[in-house]
Amino acid sequence: MTNVTGVFKRSTNRRRFLKGGMLAGAAVGTGLFDGGLLAFDRHAAKKDSGGLTTGDAALLRFAAAAEILESDFWQQYNELGGIQDSELPDGSGSPIYTAKLQNLDSDMAQYIHDNTEDEITHFTFLNAYLASKGKATVSLEQFRTLPGSTATGSSGKLRLTNLMELTLDTSWWTRYRSRSENPDLNPQAMFPQAVPDLFSSPHTAIPRTDADLTPDAHIQAIANTAAFHFPTIEQGGNSLYPSMAQRATHPEALRILISIGPTETMHFQTWSDKAGNAVSTPLAPLTDPTNGLTFPNLNSPPFGGEDFQTNLIMPEPCPFISPTLPVCSIIRPTETEGIAMGVVNFLTAMGLFIGQTPAFFQFLKDLAAEADAAKHGV
Ligand SMILES: [Fe+2]
Ligand SMILES: [Fe+2]
Repeated sequence: MTNVTGVFKRSTNRRRFLKGGMLAGAAVGTGLFDGGLLAFDRHAAKKDSGGLTTGDAALLRFAAAAEILESDFWQQYNELGGIQDSELPDGSGSPIYTAKLQNLDSDMAQYIHDNTEDEITHFTFLNAYLASKGKATVSLEQFRTLPGSTATGSSGKLRLTNLMELTLDTSWWTRYRSRSENPDLNPQAMFPQAVPDLFSSPHTAIPRTDADLTPDAHIQAIANTAAFHFPTIEQGGNSLYPSMAQRATHPEALRILISIGPTETMHFQTWSDKAGNAVSTPLAPLTDPTNGLTFPNLNSPPFGGEDFQTNLIMPEPCPFISPTLPVCSIIRPTETEGIAMGVVNFLTAMGLFIGQTPAFFQFLKDLAAEADAAKHGV
């Protein structure tokens, strides 16, 4: 049950990579960066004419890439388990999967729809803002190669992300319930998993084919896996934005980062409440008879108490900045060093990119290295 989790695993060779002239390297070679703009970035006065710094643009570009990836997998959820309408027209819904999600909350389909739309607006705005400032934007369309679900209800479109082999680190559950540990102050802190099986082997969070729609406990376990994937992802965004904001220079870049970030927090808070319904009565305990995946009842022994009780969804205060200061209810982690590469590693370890090409990973790492090179005031 206990696992050491790195939260966001930092890159150790980031500086070496940057010294190697990354900006002129692989990222530019993709054709998605305009060489002229990069030259402008390097040589223009950093803050004249109210412009963004090179670092500001890199932070917003990495955020846009992360939001494109979020949009891609939220779209997959919406096609099968959300609401397909004029705002999100793709797919036609999987009635059984949708019903199992609604066992967690009758509003699940609406929440999935709205989270999906939020992510689409995030990357669309970020790219448009970058373009309005004469900065390079991000597209991942060349990497849209994954086949995705063939279950009834899926649009069958090619995907950027893979929801069918997820290994979910559910330790955020106890990280936000710990009053004594903050990974920023103690990177070795141990946070037990809420659903150990989700972290020990890969599972699908959507019906892969219509064969996944039975037996009943199997498709409920798939819906429950989705219910834990939602907050697992959104708590990442919840840390990413305040971590990146500390590296912003231009007030408008800062404003964008600190205005999008809390919407990720709103998603996380909502989803952590819904995930709790997968690990409490009447749904829990539940074991998938096809693979043994078990969702325990976290309100009963050996669980329960401050670390597991499902209605304790407000962040417990924890040490912040210094252990000599009083505990404080905060987002954590918010360490800024290596945050973007940490997020790439976090999503990769989750299995979200299984099947993607080496060029895809290189592209993401290049964006992350640029963002991690940003420094406030430089
Ligand atoms: Fe987002
Ligand atoms: Fe998000």
